[in-house]
Amino acid sequence: MAEEPPLEEKKYEHIEDLPGIGPATAQKLRELGFHTVESLATATVKELESVGIGEKKALEVTRTARSTIAVSFIRVDELIKMRQNVLRLTTGSKTMDELLGGGLETQTITEFYGEYGSGKSQLCHQLCVNVQLPPERGGLGGGSLYVDTENTFRTERIVQMAQHLGLDPEEVVKNIIYAEAYTSDHQTFLLENADEIIKENGIRLIIVDSLTSHFRSEYLGREMLAERQQKLNKHMHRLIRLARAFNAAAVVTNQVMSKPDVFFGNAVHPIGGHIVAHTSHTRVYLRKSARGRVRIARLVSSPYLPEGERVFKITGSGVEDVTEEDESRR
Ligand code: GTP
Ligand code: MG
Repeated sequence: MAEEPPLEEKKYEHIEDLPGIGPATAQKLRELGFHTVESLATATVKELESVGIGEKKALEVTRTARSTIAVSFIRVDELIKMRQNVLRLTTGSKTMDELLGGGLETQTITEFYGEYGSGKSQLCHQLCVNVQLPPERGGLGGGSLYVDTENTFRTERIVQMAQHLGLDPEEVVKNIIYAEAYTSDHQTFLLENADEIIKENGIRLIIVDSLTSHFRSEYLGREMLAERQQKLNKHMHRLIRLARAFNAAAVVTNQVMSKPDVFFGNAVHPIGGHIVAHTSHTRVYLRKSARGRVRIARLVSSPYLPEGERVFKITGSGVEDVTEEDESRR
């Protein structure tokens, strides 16, 4: 096989700067949700063909876009280097961070699932604040994007959590970009058009709380299941692409349903079945404990970490470790 010519090491700022993309094509690409070179780097030829770009041109465009970020065949020593770019974000609880191998990873999706009141949204709020901390305090020194499907985002909580960490709440709220999603289509649209906002605001954490609530209420019955799964799959893939392109952490929350189980009686299962399971790289099951504010986090699936359980608590100050004092109060 002939060797590919070396790619030009050239930085392209806007999609129009890529060779072969004129203003009309750029416009079509934007309509498809590709606003940045980073996002074009993860586009498929098929997607570009859908806006009338020929196959050859589509290949060239994606290839050039890819040359600006590291997504192609690489040697494993380089892969190790890329993995070294993976950063970790603290949950606010050292024990939970430990369970996750040092915190939430960038470039992947972490899913928190559990019953109502198990702490999923509280954790999302906390992460929005923590991501703004400098790396030496477990943050990523960046902002966050919060897609809220259930209208449960509360700025009061952000202020309390920021104050507890000694951050200026006025600055902290400036670094959270918020969007309420009214339907599953709207939710999908928001992520498809998020790349520019992520880039401009230095966003390092993307939250979808909840991933499944709209899909669950809109696609009812067996006959709609296939369509729902297909749309969820596409939505999740968009999220992964954004997380990779911008080295950001991605977090989704998910409710559970209880299903009769032949062996164990009623067992709880996250919504979304295997689609969500396969696209979430790390899955954490949250549940309430008998002790009011204490929660249990169970690492259910991870690419390389063992399963395990740890406790944390939710207080007025946010997500914290359970202390000896809490233990003695039992
Ligand atoms: P659903 O979205 O309904 O599925 O639940 P969730 O898992 O998102 O629950 P959420 O994170 O909203 O947790 C709510 C729980 O967090 C409450 O029941 C409280 O126990 C706790 N919580 C929320 N806000 C505060 C607060 O200001 N102070 C304290 N101490 N606890 C709080
Ligand atoms: Mg919630």
